Amino acid sequence: MATAIITGSGLYTPKDIISNQALVNSLNQFVEQYQAKYHTEIAAGTMPALEPSDPDFIEKASGIKNRYVIDKKGILDPNRLCPQIPQRSPDEISVQAEMALHALEPALAEAQLKGSDIDTVICAASVMQRGYPSMSVEIQHHLGAKGSALDLQMACSSATFGLQVINSLIQSGAAKKIVMVNPEICSAHLDYSNRDSHFIFGDACTAMVIEAHENQSGFRILSTQCQTQYSNNIRNEFGFLNRIEAGRDPKHPPFFTQQGRKVFKEVSSLAAEHLANHCQQHQLLPAQLKRFWLHQANATMNQLILKKLLETEPNAYQAPLVLDNYANTSSAGCVIAFHTHKTDFEAGEKGLLCSFGAGYSIGSALLEKC
Ligand SMILES: CC(C)(COP(=O)(O)OP(=O)(O)OC[C@H]1O[C@@H](n2cnc3c(N)ncnc32)[C@H](O)[C@@H]1OP(=O)(O)O)[C@@H](O)C(=O)NCCC(=O)NCCS
Repeated sequence: MATAIITGSGLYTPKDIISNQALVNSLNQFVEQYQAKYHTEIAAGTMPALEPSDPDFIEKASGIKNRYVIDKKGILDPNRLCPQIPQRSPDEISVQAEMALHALEPALAEAQLKGSDIDTVICAASVMQRGYPSMSVEIQHHLGAKGSALDLQMACSSATFGLQVINSLIQSGAAKKIVMVNPEICSAHLDYSNRDSHFIFGDACTAMVIEAHENQSGFRILSTQCQTQYSNNIRNEFGFLNRIEAGRDPKHPPFFTQQGRKVFKEVSSLAAEHLANHCQQHQLLPAQLKRFWLHQANATMNQLILKKLLETEPNAYQAPLVLDNYANTSSAGCVIAFHTHKTDFEAGEKGLLCSFGAGYSIGSALLEKC
């Protein structure tokens, strides 16, 4: 049975960066204008009052300081509060495919491969920008790759669930050289007028090259584990039925919503248990692992998960945080942590990549440096 090895990784972030303070300034300006415009309706209870946001709350509650976004101008305009990008014709490369190619460049360079060497392309992300043709097929085309392509959506766990599929494809001999990309444009589904969630997400794309074992150096996938448990606590209702749903205002597309407190509590326990089981399956104590590249949604949540697992306070070396600069980039988060914190591994050292999020969905991959 062939072994899958991650031989390259890459990261692309858009140029625009928004700090908590800049984000809060624009929301608070919007709230002021809104309260002045609708004070009669708000007093009569026919329109909701909106609350201002606070940069100190954001950093304390989440650990987030900055985020990369595809369009800062539109988000920070209090009269718009939404990114804006020019529409592209079908003959132009689409936005997610473009992000994917940027992220693939360093990943392929590290693996010393060309696009034409690739036999399988997987685009794994929480949202795809269109129904069809599949994003992965367009990426395959621009890459100059042959073989097959596949889109995979499993919210924040799209990358780890993608790795499970990839591991099986390589072990069965169905594929030999695979690329996976995670183009996440999370700013497109955020309600920037809602202080509960306006700070949560950022945009980014990650990439990985995974090859069947041929004495390559990289990170060997020892095993993957995925689990799901249905929950309504994180939802994004956006979809192709919106247009025909009676009672839905077509001018107001649905946004990301979550019950943050419930998610925090329920997912922390599920993730800690999941990681413990994955270690146990390999007769490993969690403390024997050099690193945990965890999903990046909340700094305290990651601390809590690892404290449960390690039975001691984790340090930044064991579980690097990247969400301070990137915010929550959905499926890309744990891959950013891996990509930016992997060069100090010696052969034989192990780490666990793990994501958790909507679904609920929890996925992990046990990796060993080779
Ligand atoms: C989202 C999250 C950061 C919010 O932190 P929290 O401590 O749970 O905060 P809450 O939403 O309970 O809000 C606490 C208080 O701050 C207020 N608040 C919320 N947003 C605020 C803001 N931007 N500025 C100031 N105050 C704010 C709330 O209204 C609430 O006020 P109240 O106590 O008077 O009711 C946190 O719940 C979280 O990260 N959860 C996990 C999310 C996750 O993992 N999701 C999976 C991936 S998508």
